[in-house]
Amino acid sequence: MSKCAKLAVMGSINADHILNLSHFPRPGETVIGKAYQIEFGGKGANQAVAAGRAGADIAFIACVGGDDTGERICEQLQRDNIDITPVEAIPSEATGVAMIFVNGEGENNIGIYAGANAALTPDSVRRHQQVIADAEALLMQLESPLESVLTAAQLARQHGTQVILNPAPATRLTDELLAQIDIITPNETEAEILTGIAVSSDAEAAQAAQVLHAKGIRTVLITLGRRGVWLSEQGNGERIPGFNVQAVDTIAAGDTFNGAFITARLEGMTMHDAVRFAHAAAAIAVTRPGAQPAVPWRREIDAFLQQQE
Ligand code: RIB
Repeated sequence: MSKCAKLAVMGSINADHILNLSHFPRPGETVIGKAYQIEFGGKGANQAVAAGRAGADIAFIACVGGDDTGERICEQLQRDNIDITPVEAIPSEATGVAMIFVNGEGENNIGIYAGANAALTPDSVRRHQQVIADAEALLMQLESPLESVLTAAQLARQHGTQVILNPAPATRLTDELLAQIDIITPNETEAEILTGIAVSSDAEAAQAAQVLHAKGIRTVLITLGRRGVWLSEQGNGERIPGFNVQAVDTIAAGDTFNGAFITARLEGMTMHDAVRFAHAAAAIAVTRPGAQPAVPWRREIDAFLQQQE
């Protein structure tokens, strides 16, 4: 039976506390901040927002705390064109929190308290099985319990739903989980942790991709920061450069890339065009501060791409 081109995203929701500093504090050092803000974030929510603003038909499986922050985040997610029916509020928990330092170069350091995100258990994933079954693709990251990511991937496979995993934050994964993935999108650090190969050149990216193909993953996209993305399909690899922009901070650049990429794929764009579309979305995001406030809408991505022609 054919499905409508619907996307399910499963993952975390955080309130991001962002402090801008000249440099990251060393152990024992206190640094006076230049700016402080609280914005909505979380890798799952950021990717859902990127897809919603890019025009995907999307439902989001996640948990918020039983607090005012959770309520306000849900209202915002709805304004971002996301079906939040599968978002559960957990009365005994606080909404997840991320403490983010951004230095003068726009780099970041992040510490996370999972809060309600830890309540996204395999049982709660099973409660939303129909959302996964109805979708053409399921996009996940690793700020949810690993056993829940595995359960969701297995359910997706059973229902013929494509599985896309952005393996962030970096951690080792079992072969059992990797074998359920259709498309994986690590950055260089994550690729090294998954494969044991340090990725600092195209040749090394190709080797790391090969290791992931051998685990059963058809498509590997290794994001290479300023150098773009290494795209490898069944071992045929190419580097697709990104766009040069003046970055303010890179928070959620990867999340924006992932949400935009899968949206483009579900619209029927080729892999190459979908990567270019995602590069454009991420390029816009890094020119703006914060996570979700930085994520562009479709008209902005289209206008950016037109300017490049
Ligand atoms: O990828 C960026 C995100 O990582 C932030 O929004 C923060 O919440 C952490 O989850």
